[in-house]
Amino acid sequence: MSDKVKFTIDGKECTGKKGQLLVDAATENGVYIPVLCHWKDVEPAASCRICTVRVNGNYITACTTTVEEGSTVENDTPEIRDMRKTIVEMLFVEGNHFCPSCEKSGDCDLQALGYLYQMMVPRFPYAFENREIQASSPKIFLDKNRCIFCKRCIRMIKDDQDRNYFAFKGRGNHLEITIDEKLAAGMTEEQAQRAMEICPVGAILRKEVGFITPIGKRKYDKVPIGSDIESQNKKGGEK
Ligand code: SF4
Ligand code: FES
Repeated sequence: MSDKVKFTIDGKECTGKKGQLLVDAATENGVYIPVLCHWKDVEPAASCRICTVRVNGNYITACTTTVEEGSTVENDTPEIRDMRKTIVEMLFVEGNHFCPSCEKSGDCDLQALGYLYQMMVPRFPYAFENREIQASSPKIFLDKNRCIFCKRCIRMIKDDQDRNYFAFKGRGNHLEITIDEKLAAGMTEEQAQRAMEICPVGAILRKEVGFITPIGKRKYDKVPIGSDIESQNKKGGEK
């Protein structure tokens, strides 16, 4: 029996595999669904909700939903675009994002989504939370102001005994990302680089290296986020 599943996204006929996440199947079919917390083949966190689509009339996150035969997916409609823009605005006001001085500017997914959805002035008041910068680990500079709580670093950056370098601490408005400084003392250059790359914003930055790629030559300086979906697809869907 075939494990192929046929469905449509905004009227485009797509094919996926049984059990495949909609967000990954969309990428394979050249359709961009924005993500902030999702990473292919990593247990979903479903924390950012930016990938919300409408499947057979119901709103659902594409990073937790598997493809179903005959389903109709709405992805790029004015209503869904506005909902995503609202999420981006909420993320911007909830943290303190200093884009012009950020090492991640031009490589930041949140900033790129702000441009994609043409965010001007957020419709919500800024929270101006007072968040510290944790700079005492040798390779990582953790700017808690910019964390959007996607949990990628917690899920993906571990030592060889499967221990987490990163964790959340506190609750509600006081929730913050933190790094285990004792463990992080043994972090390799590669792990630090990987942590910086998987962070969708500029909360995790490597120490002693900066602005290697000049502003203007970075990923989203060249093309808007999502427009490279075909090349992502060729690379196996990883961002
Ligand atoms: S530090 Fe970055 S990767 Fe970690 S939870 Fe915050 S935004 Fe996500
Ligand atoms: S990418 Fe789906 S909830 Fe974040």
